Amino acid sequence: MTRIPWWRDAVVYEIYVRSFADADGNGEGDLQGIRSRLGHLRDLGVDALWLTPFYRSPLADGGYDVADYRDVDPRFGTLDDFDALVADVHAHGLRLIVDIVPNHSSDRHPWFQEALAAPPGSPERARYIFRPGRPGERPGEEQPPNDWPSAFGGPAWTRVDDGAGGGEWYLHLYAREQPDFNWRNPEVRHEFEDVLRFWLDRGVDGFRIDVAAGLFKDESFGDLAGRDRRVANGPIYSRPEVHEVYRKWRRILDEYGGDRMAIGEVWTDGPEDLALYLRPDELHQVFQFDLQLASWSATAFRDVIDAALKAVAPTGAAPTWVLSSHDSIRHLTRYERPGGIPGIERARAKAALLLLLSLPGSAYLYQGEELGLPEVTDLPDEARQDPIFERTCGELAGRDGCRVPLPWSGRAEPFGFSPAGVRPWLPMPRDWASMTVEAQASDPSSMLAYYRGALAMRRRLAGDLPEELEWLDSPDTALFFRRGPLTCALNCGENPVRLPPGTPLLTSAPLYGDLLPGNTAAWLRTP
Ligand code: BGC
Repeated sequence: MTRIPWWRDAVVYEIYVRSFADADGNGEGDLQGIRSRLGHLRDLGVDALWLTPFYRSPLADGGYDVADYRDVDPRFGTLDDFDALVADVHAHGLRLIVDIVPNHSSDRHPWFQEALAAPPGSPERARYIFRPGRPGERPGEEQPPNDWPSAFGGPAWTRVDDGAGGGEWYLHLYAREQPDFNWRNPEVRHEFEDVLRFWLDRGVDGFRIDVAAGLFKDESFGDLAGRDRRVANGPIYSRPEVHEVYRKWRRILDEYGGDRMAIGEVWTDGPEDLALYLRPDELHQVFQFDLQLASWSATAFRDVIDAALKAVAPTGAAPTWVLSSHDSIRHLTRYERPGGIPGIERARAKAALLLLLSLPGSAYLYQGEELGLPEVTDLPDEARQDPIFERTCGELAGRDGCRVPLPWSGRAEPFGFSPAGVRPWLPMPRDWASMTVEAQASDPSSMLAYYRGALAMRRRLAGDLPEELEWLDSPDTALFFRRGPLTCALNCGENPVRLPPGTPLLTSAPLYGDLLPGNTAAWLRTP
């Protein structure tokens, strides 16, 4: 039998390092904290971990602003801690993926500091994207070089102060503390090739590439003029030049043994564009955010599943599925229906897991979903740290609500996240005592027990499941499909529907005889 590379059907668990477990008692999660909780992840039954950035950083964007790509931020630990973590992860039979942030650095990165100190046109400035401004309406006034917006609100350009009232502008597609690299400069390419090797040499199994479609910008820097900033092959994202970079990265990954992989964060408006990244000599996977973006509807789910499968089919790559991440509102909360049946969001989240885990390809879970954590929507303004909150002047709440530290044990904050008496970096809701890992671990009716059961069953079935999915007839409010011996049935409606043929293996809520209740999913053994 041909061996399938591990990542093709892996369940990967995203660890938002700052919020996972705090061993050193500074109120922020760290690498030792992760080491101390690997038992939870093994018992949960995932195959791999993806760590968000833990590199040296002022944390202007939670670590996606890197000041040193080859070191661990002291808040998160040391390189020795990292090496110990790699060894422990592997000893637990898990794989480790780390985030790499090639589109931009921190403004505290030595290269950007050198660029600021150097004059226009210098080699130091040529590592980033500096441009002269455009004349403003009044004499002496200047406008940014073009109309590009920052993804976090406001313009994508900030002017530097040259001390004489002048100064060029630099590009930052995200916060002003995240200047974009100039990928047309070979120095930048070489630097990142070296950074990849640095972490591969330390034993990582793969990379999650942040803003993977953004590295090259159209050299004319023309206005967007009303176009979507994400349009494929527009001036900002998915320029054709980016693919040469990933071809080179693939060659580097292939030089190392052990199935090292890369998954790109590619937001794009077209499946054809997505497929380009998956050519056999480029990335192994790209994130497909379709499920995360779909509303609670069988038709919507069927459509996005079809589209996602179609997008990867010509490439031979395995699809990827995700319901939540550190960038989005937790799906449990997305599935709420104001004024609807109490607890409907929990029922839906349980049902959605069976859908996620029975689709072909790999599933990416986000820390805390196994505990049924909701989005924290009532964080005080002064606690919020996401630059989106500040850059939109509070118009958008930002992503802190899905980044609240995990509750591990105990009856009050810090719920075992930090040592007793320490205040976590974001406040934790008072009513999380019943949500802790400790409280749920011994309760067979808990979300955690349910996740463990579903993951264990997926693992048992995995070897027998073909990569193809076959749709079965179903009522409009439901979707049924089969993958060889496994049939998955999901009823997104409110009224029960008749189950497809098969013996029930696992259900997200009790069945009514041969009826599948609303907001419920079932796995059945195909007859
Ligand atoms: C990451 C975000 C980050 C942004 C800028 C995204 O894709 O997932 O958390 O803010 O890139 O680095």
